[in-house]
Amino acid sequence: MSQVPVVRTTKALRRTVGQWRAAGERVALVPTMGALHAGHLALVTAGRKRATKVVVSIFVNPAQFSPAEDLSKYPRTFAADRHKLGEASADLIFAPTVPEMYPDGFATTVSLAGPALVGLEDAFRPTHFPGVATVVCKLFSQCRPDIAMFGEKDYQQLQVVTRMARDLDLGVTVIGVPTVREADGLAMSSRNRFLSPPERAAARVLYDAMTAATRAIRATGEAEPALATARAAIMQAGFTLDYLEFRDAATLAPPLAVSGAPLRLLVAARIGSTRLIDNIAV
Ligand code: PAF
Repeated sequence: MSQVPVVRTTKALRRTVGQWRAAGERVALVPTMGALHAGHLALVTAGRKRATKVVVSIFVNPAQFSPAEDLSKYPRTFAADRHKLGEASADLIFAPTVPEMYPDGFATTVSLAGPALVGLEDAFRPTHFPGVATVVCKLFSQCRPDIAMFGEKDYQQLQVVTRMARDLDLGVTVIGVPTVREADGLAMSSRNRFLSPPERAAARVLYDAMTAATRAIRATGEAEPALATARAAIMQAGFTLDYLEFRDAATLAPPLAVSGAPLRLLVAARIGSTRLIDNIAV
């Protein structure tokens, strides 16, 4: 198996993608921060189904980490990532440097409202989505893909990026890809590697509590008792709960009723030094 080619500059990326476009190829972009797992590879596979060329960006974006979050602790596994992308048949890796993405004097940030300001991740990580949206906007502009693949695991991010692409006419169709889970239901995440064995065993409670809550909401038409039971189960398992909320699936606003528009149940909780997020359709 030959190695996936790597480009490190916007100029080199545009040259390759430009040649593909001239040849009539349809291009998918999979934005990542590396430390790739089966969830990322599912994005590549989904991209392959809808496009003829798949570009994977690997860039640990400093702008989406707050000073309290340890950017240096973020896992960097480039050689292993490149190997996995070869097996998944990606066509190109875009791995820019920090100065390539944020040149001296960089002064522009995408300003967000709508699904970026609904009291979920934004309440706990206020600088996160402006950092994500800015880098994703740059990646779209650098690569100019037809489509871009984002995991439903980061559900608020998916809604923020979808809204941005539509609002700013970025010419990219954002496609959400279902979450890949471990056998016990834990959503795959690059953060799972930080869980100790007892924390990892406890972590299944997130999916178990969410699925039990959605079943109860569907059966009774009432949200609050089901949410209270799920919150108690998560805390009982040793987590500190940031939120467990159900929301309108598109706007992420609190829904007026349990029936009607599609709903999403979203959770964020901390155990030890690890913060996990997850969500499912109600
Ligand atoms: O989901 C991620 O890994 C990141 O937030 C993204 C979309 C690659 C932007 O840095």
